[in-house]
Amino acid sequence: MNQTTMRRPLIAGNWKMNGSVAANALLLDCIRAGASGLAADLVVCVPAPYLAQAQAALSGSAVAWGGQDLSLHESGAFTGEVSGAMLRDFGCHFVIVGHSERRSLHGETDAIVADKARQALACGLTPIVCVGETLEEREAGQTEPVVSRQLRAVLAVLGQQLGKIVIAYEPVWAIGTGKTATPEMAQQVHAHLRALLVGVDSDAGSGVRLLYGGSVKPDNAHDLLEMDGIDGGLIGGASLKVEDFLAIAKSA
Ligand code: 13P
Repeated sequence: MNQTTMRRPLIAGNWKMNGSVAANALLLDCIRAGASGLAADLVVCVPAPYLAQAQAALSGSAVAWGGQDLSLHESGAFTGEVSGAMLRDFGCHFVIVGHSERRSLHGETDAIVADKARQALACGLTPIVCVGETLEEREAGQTEPVVSRQLRAVLAVLGQQLGKIVIAYEPVWAIGTGKTATPEMAQQVHAHLRALLVGVDSDAGSGVRLLYGGSVKPDNAHDLLEMDGIDGGLIGGASLKVEDFLAIAKSA
């Protein structure tokens, strides 16, 4: 068995700031019902107010749930923040860290993202660490230096915990735009990220799941997910439509 086949695919839905109690109920029930027998692990990352609903709907099923961000801090006077311990309290196993929307809209630097990844691990959560270049950076030939810088910041704080993270390569220009990286473009960046990971620790680094995100839809999922080195997807818009999300999961 080679290293790629040892990694079970992971399909993660990032609902972003979408949902309502009524709409979620249907979506969660249908995902639960459609998830059994898949060859991929499934997780939905829901807005914090809906964690209790996700926990109630998904407990005992094959589907995990998680948060979309966590605080750097453990507790205290941080109005509006949600701690890793709170996510754990609602049964989360995963949390997205360093999504490009957090980086660009909330000023999260590489150092903050690294600290959040460390804090997630300290709370018993698996961070799904996002990296990716802007269109300007890609056109300037800076894709590999940018994702290297973003990943190295995280690797520097992980210590022996490298094997406990998930990484998502999400080119910023492909998020919510309908423009997706070609399977070859995605694979090239994945190979670069993999080389960095195994350079730190060959065993742990080969076990880390590397997801692709950015306008993944049922009609392009198969071509992306069949590429060697692409271990799953981080799905935005299509994770809100049950048929699309499950169709993507079936392609994995
Ligand atoms: P879309 O799938 O809507 O492009 O979003 C991707 C994303 O940002 C997932 O985190």
